[in-house]
Amino acid sequence: MTERRGRFISLEGGEGAGKSTLLAGLRAHIEGRGIDLVQTREPGGTPVGEAVRAIALDPAMRGMAAETELLLMFASRAQLVRQTIAPALAAGRWVLCDRYVDASYAYQGGGRGQPPERIAELERWACDGVSPDLTLLLDLPVATGRARAAGRGGADRIEAEADAFFERVRERYRARAAAEPARFRVIDAGQSPEGVLRAAIAALEPLFAEGAA
Ligand code: TMP
Repeated sequence: MTERRGRFISLEGGEGAGKSTLLAGLRAHIEGRGIDLVQTREPGGTPVGEAVRAIALDPAMRGMAAETELLLMFASRAQLVRQTIAPALAAGRWVLCDRYVDASYAYQGGGRGQPPERIAELERWACDGVSPDLTLLLDLPVATGRARAAGRGGADRIEAEADAFFERVRERYRARAAAEPARFRVIDAGQSPEGVLRAAIAALEPLFAEGAA
């Protein structure tokens, strides 16, 4: 057996689900346990990825084809895996990523209707076998999330989609969680931020326990 690599945790959820608040709390908790953590995001996380993100989410890019959008998400991901995630895991560090490949199945698959087999093929190619040990899904009714996010202003190109798009995104996320219960933990994002953080920490306990073993 090769030496135990670090752990990879991804965080998913719709608009207004409280990802940013949870990320800050989780990061503090994990680092508080003395674990060396790399926090990153998708699309983005590397100079190449952040440049891709600027294109992918720019509201001015109205004419973007669904296929282009899908490829941009995977272009950012291919870079992040090679430059950041794989090296960190190999060095025994933990990685906390704001969205990962499930977002492509949910948004480009569920939202835009791209075939899941096509996304799976890109995953094999771009992710190079790097898959999360744990995926936290912050689940919230679309209307609640959108009402929370409305106060922020400055919707990006994807956030400007209609409610029906986000209903399909939510459904696809929930279907993926149901299909892979060992990897996913679905957290009710309608509860208080403290409750969400408690649930997330509880979901991480088995990873901490493995690390200590
Ligand atoms: P966020 O930083 O607020 O999560 O914004 C990222 C946006 O990009 C969000 O609208 C979801 C979208 N997205 C996809 O459509 N597909 C993907 O694969 C990823 C990672 C994000």
